Amino acid sequence: MTHHRDAISYISGKSPALRGDVDVPGDKSMSHRSIMFGLLAEGKTTVKGILTGEDVLCTADAARALGAEVTAQEDGTWVIKGNGLTNLTAPDRVLDMGNSGTSTRLLMGLVAGYDFNTSFTGDASLTKRPMGRVMKPLAQMGASFIDKNEGRLPLIVQGSSALRPTTYELPVASAQVKSAILLAGLNADGKTTVIESKPTRDHTENMLRHFGATVETERLENGAYAISITGKPALTGCDIVIPADPSSAAFPVVAAILTPGSDIRLDNIGMNDRRAGIFTTLIEMGADITIENERDMAGEPVADLHVRYNGPLKGIDVPADRVPSMIDEFPVLSMVAACADGTTRMTDLAELRVKESDRLLMVAEGLKKCGVSLEMGEDSLTIHGNGKPPAGGAEIETALDHRIAMSFLILGCATDNPVSVDDGTPIATSFPRFIPLMTALGAKIEKR
Ligand code: S3P
Repeated sequence: MTHHRDAISYISGKSPALRGDVDVPGDKSMSHRSIMFGLLAEGKTTVKGILTGEDVLCTADAARALGAEVTAQEDGTWVIKGNGLTNLTAPDRVLDMGNSGTSTRLLMGLVAGYDFNTSFTGDASLTKRPMGRVMKPLAQMGASFIDKNEGRLPLIVQGSSALRPTTYELPVASAQVKSAILLAGLNADGKTTVIESKPTRDHTENMLRHFGATVETERLENGAYAISITGKPALTGCDIVIPADPSSAAFPVVAAILTPGSDIRLDNIGMNDRRAGIFTTLIEMGADITIENERDMAGEPVADLHVRYNGPLKGIDVPADRVPSMIDEFPVLSMVAACADGTTRMTDLAELRVKESDRLLMVAEGLKKCGVSLEMGEDSLTIHGNGKPPAGGAEIETALDHRIAMSFLILGCATDNPVSVDDGTPIATSFPRFIPLMTALGAKIEKR
């Protein structure tokens, strides 16, 4: 697990033009969900294109502890055999969720509807993250908790087979909280409704429908969305195909945007409009990204991307209502802003403070060390670019955060002086082959 591992420092230096095709791994959000829903369904689920990152392996281990058989075939297809919604087994061990907030929060909702206790723990990053946001609605539905750490891991969910359906308005835009409630709602009698004022990723809704659940999404008069699930459905194993992760794709895309002469292609990238805000933003800043061959892959929109270096981009104001659709991409966007011509203003970023690290702080501190001028607010970041990469030449603290590590390694490909990160091992949580894929394109990234 991630928390018993020694740190490995990496360094990146000014790179030649990046060229080639990038094989971006499967979508992390969808990979977690395919295993969880396969566990709850009766019969066999097959999953093609699954991400085999550490976060997803944590979910797979948890699914096994709850009674599913989870195996990988030689061709890379995963097979999950579940026993049906009513037939989970009580786990005989603590579920160690490593670095993964998605595994933890979704599984807390999933196990809330069963008459057994489930213990969760995680690494030094995950044990700092707030779980009260899922405990509150789950308690309202009838689950209880043994939590000695003020809503943080380690904690125990005391489930109940007599969950009450609820209507819950999300206080923060969070697909994890929405999903936890919907998963608990599977075991409540009647309709459970989540109201979100800002649309967050809808993979739970889309994929649960595919397994046979009734999930309705309604646009309310005030513009909010009401998502309702009908409890006690018959879920049946099915075949899932997972597109490549747009959040992972963003790293090579930005590397090509920052490195003169670059020309790269990325196929089968998930383009769900609740996820793809980073591409809209980069194009607004002037990036040369061609979106080709738009199509549907097993119910999700995908496209191929062709990205060419196009000179320095221009700073922009990122619209606040776009934030949920690119919530994980602000670290890497900040690297672009640091090299752009003019000021980039990013607002409504309070959630960044409770991700794998305090991403607002880690980005601001790291960029300052690289010579960038910026202002950080409580929930905002304003970055002043000079139309060329900053000096670099710094060692960046990554605080067990994969996206901080990847973002700064990419910045180092463009700066005059190399950039190093204190620990690159967390990259394996979401993008295990990041370094070999980047070096195959020509990036100068190596162990220090
Ligand atoms: C995720 C939702 C987002 C995102 C995370 C994955 C998901 O978190 O940051 O990487 O798969 O539902 P929040 O729900 O906390 O915004």
